[in-house]
Amino acid sequence: MVGVESRVAAKQLKTGILATPFVKWAGGKGQLLKQYKPLFPITFRDYFEPFVGGGAVFFFLHSQGRLGGRATLSDSNEELMNCYRVIRDHVEELIEKLWEHDAQKMDKDYYYEVRNWDRDGHIEKMSAVERAARTIFLNRTCYNGLYRVNSKGQFNVPYGSYKNPTVCDEQNLRAASQTLQGVKLYTEDFEKCLQRVKPGDFVYLDPPYHPLSATASFTSYTKEDFGEEEQKRLAGVFQKLDQRGCRVMLSNSDTPLVWELYEDYRIGVVEANRAISCKASTRKGVTELVIFNY
Ligand SMILES: C[S@@+](CC[C@H](N)C(=O)[O-])C[C@H]1O[C@@H](n2cnc3c(N)ncnc32)[C@H](O)[C@@H]1O
Repeated sequence: MVGVESRVAAKQLKTGILATPFVKWAGGKGQLLKQYKPLFPITFRDYFEPFVGGGAVFFFLHSQGRLGGRATLSDSNEELMNCYRVIRDHVEELIEKLWEHDAQKMDKDYYYEVRNWDRDGHIEKMSAVERAARTIFLNRTCYNGLYRVNSKGQFNVPYGSYKNPTVCDEQNLRAASQTLQGVKLYTEDFEKCLQRVKPGDFVYLDPPYHPLSATASFTSYTKEDFGEEEQKRLAGVFQKLDQRGCRVMLSNSDTPLVWELYEDYRIGVVEANRAISCKASTRKGVTELVIFNY
């Protein structure tokens, strides 16, 4: 049976416009999709992605016509999930707002003025569409597309100094909007997915990675940190999903803790070419793990 999702993908294939992530996201899986492709389960019912971030895996599976059932996407980052909802439900208004940002002089002063809206009370008066436009504008113009907030939840990434940032990628936003029709979206902790998943569903888990060293940690996507206790809590959720009869796939860093937490499951090693040096000749290949129960 061809689901609604597959029909949308087929239509997008015809027009040549397949949606890709509308934000740059730390830990985004775009670079790993080729290696992941043979690892996804062949058949499954509904799809769940509880750490959706930029949604690289969701948009990829959709583009491949692999999402026959319903999809549910969630993340604990409220500003991000607001973008998903606005793109699904109000994409034309969002495009208009993004063009308004684009019409401004794209300099450091404008960037910091918009960034400051969560410090000067402005954000509380903004509509969901205006907030989504702000988040996408900041993502496109901040340093490396990072999302990081301080303990008060205020966005604190510095200006990115891009010459010509694409603030409004109309085609991709419309394609993403089509792709998101009928998709369920929640702002919530990953553990809540246990309330919705059923046997036969596919759950892809892409948490903030366990750091390779104490100083290499980047876990501030939200106000809360994702430490060792969270990694253990996640391993417990993985086990419950397994016992329920779901197909579960999880990405994480290649560290002793991760090997230990998932020792009962299949563990694959993939090459992630992280640029840890600016010079191409001295870039080192880093390995990452993919854990499955199927
Ligand atoms: C590695 S990123 C996911 C990247 C995504 N797969 C992509 O391709 O862009 C991890 C995500 O987990 C989210 N997150 C952190 N703690 C969480 C929690 N307790 N529950 C749900 N999501 C959480 C972050 O907001 C972030 O978007």
